[in-house]
Amino acid sequence: LLENKKLPEQLISRIEEELKLVPYGKRPDSLYDPIRYILSLGGKRLRPVLVLLSGRIFSELSDERLFNMGLVAEVFHNFSLLHDDVMDEAPLRRGMPTVHEKWDVNTAILSGDVMLVLAYQILSKLPPKSLPFCMNAFNQVAREVCEGQQLDMEFEQKEIVLLDDYIEMIRLKTAVLLGFCCKTGAFLAGANDEQFNKLYTFGESIGLGFQLMDDYLDVFGDSSKFGKRVGGDIASNKKTYLLIRALELAKGEQLYMLNHWLSMHNENLLDDKVKFVTQVYVSLGIDKEVKRLAESYFEKGFEQLASLRKENPKVQDLELFAKELMMREK
Ligand code: IPE
Ligand code: IPE
Ligand code: MG
Ligand code: MG
Ligand code: MG
Repeated sequence: LLENKKLPEQLISRIEEELKLVPYGKRPDSLYDPIRYILSLGGKRLRPVLVLLSGRIFSELSDERLFNMGLVAEVFHNFSLLHDDVMDEAPLRRGMPTVHEKWDVNTAILSGDVMLVLAYQILSKLPPKSLPFCMNAFNQVAREVCEGQQLDMEFEQKEIVLLDDYIEMIRLKTAVLLGFCCKTGAFLAGANDEQFNKLYTFGESIGLGFQLMDDYLDVFGDSSKFGKRVGGDIASNKKTYLLIRALELAKGEQLYMLNHWLSMHNENLLDDKVKFVTQVYVSLGIDKEVKRLAESYFEKGFEQLASLRKENPKVQDLELFAKELMMREK
């Protein structure tokens, strides 16, 4: 590992190397090229970093199994992005055209499917002693992500979504995977039940904050940094925290106009819709509110680590990484 780089950056370089060594497959090119494409576009590599930093609390990073588990999480995550971008009709990912735009929808579906198989293939290389636990955890999280994605799509069509239902939806589609990364990293490194369960809750809690920030950035981010189309959630009537709160808080003329824009499906007026809804969020203070709520979930996560922190100074590296994630612009 290079001495002049910060720990997460060192880990990311190593993950990039490991990702290049995965035998993705060859023919037909049209099936495998999109896999190499999406995985070559970078991204934060947040999930493998969580596996590694969680594992490092309990053992040495020389443990190959941790890198394997990091790859499982990253390949699975990228599979979910291929399908998510089809479902969300997203044109941009990591600053580049999405797979279904560059190739087509069928390719995005099938290359995504193969990536899920790949994730299982990498997982199955774990030694027999750790495999059953990790396989169970992975099966559960993979199902939950699909459950969350289904709710996310259903909510687009619903006029009213309760905040609790929204939180449960983002817990499933996003947070449980971060919990899984922290938990399996800790488990593989020899943590006991109580310890790896705390890490799960930590990951899940920062995962809720992470998705709230994703919803914020989808409106207020800078597309050149965020790498996705800004305003996409507004365009598709995603019931994000911001929209749910706007529907709760808006009154009179503002509420009338908000509902008017939500029922509008004219593609030519999308920019005006995004402009209007964004201005509603700002005028109701929802931009600040969502950031505060996101921070409170990160704080809840840090509380989980309090007792571990006393026993082990390496917990701080995980916390520092999560703090930087909280302030992210991409
Ligand atoms: C995007 O995940 C999908 C969400 C759960 C919000 P990331 O923001 O981790 O995307 P990359 O991997 O860094 O591109
Ligand atoms: C993504 O939610 C959750 C999964 C990919 C499972 P989003 O739809 O908000 O993610 P982005 O914004 O497209 O990355
Ligand atoms: Mg999306
Ligand atoms: Mg989505
Ligand atoms: Mg999003």
